[in-house]
Amino acid sequence: MNKVTKAIIPAAGLGTRFLPITKAVPKPMLSVIDKPTIQYIAEELSSVGIEEIIIVVSPGSDVIERHFGEADALEKRLLEDGKTELYEIERQTRRFNVRFAVQEVANGLAGAILCAEPFVKDEPFALLLGDELIYAGENDKPCMKRLTEIFEKTGKSVIATMEVFGDDVSKYGNIGIESEEDGIMQVNAIIEKPSVNEALSNNAIIGRYVLSGKVMGMLKKLQPRNNEIYLTDALHELAEKGELLASCFEGIRYDVGDKFGYVRANIEYALRNKELAKQTKDLIKQLAKEL
Ligand code: G1P
Repeated sequence: MNKVTKAIIPAAGLGTRFLPITKAVPKPMLSVIDKPTIQYIAEELSSVGIEEIIIVVSPGSDVIERHFGEADALEKRLLEDGKTELYEIERQTRRFNVRFAVQEVANGLAGAILCAEPFVKDEPFALLLGDELIYAGENDKPCMKRLTEIFEKTGKSVIATMEVFGDDVSKYGNIGIESEEDGIMQVNAIIEKPSVNEALSNNAIIGRYVLSGKVMGMLKKLQPRNNEIYLTDALHELAEKGELLASCFEGIRYDVGDKFGYVRANIEYALRNKELAKQTKDLIKQLAKEL
């Protein structure tokens, strides 16, 4: 009953921080090395067995659909030329069960989630923010794996957090912790982007959630503030009822919606890439001497 089979990826932001590239290229198609960020997230989902993916896009994002769709002429050509490795790389883009919902009005995160309601109805769903890449390390349990396990065991919504310090607490949703056992925190309050003094803990919400089916209904009933409804309001309501858990993630989170985060992701993914690791390391060492 608590099995999580569906995921929503809100990826409809205009990406104005990345202009001019985002004038014609949707932000989820920006690549880290050779793969668009949206594909990394689809791979993260399939590695934990969540196969039905709903990507919420802005109007005019059909290039994302094309990325996950057929490319018969290209495949034929690669096979004819004997480029089987490249053929396999291309085929990897077609193995996902993705559907698209268009967010016509830019009305925030909760608005994006509601666009996926026809696909999710009142079932539980994973929520992965399109601007964040998560690296668990070679041997660690993937963040989404931990969240789905907690949800499947308890039936309660669960969010991933990371520890932040100083002024950084004001950049994220922040949780109040009632109790903690075996690394699972019982959350009793949520504040969105608090000041340093208002912060309830050092646990910041990152863009990975597993939410119970009732959240969709709660979002529909919420009163808008500044013409927007907020996921945080629904999460806070769950927290007050004792129905929200959190798990602190210890891997690396890349904010690829931020220019420096994007540069960092490219450098660190290159360092983990068999083909590029040595050259990248040598370059960094050389540059370090000169800087
Ligand atoms: C959203 C959430 C916030 C969370 C953040 C993580 O904020 O509202 O609680 O900490 O994502 O990236 P946004 O970055 O969309 O303002």
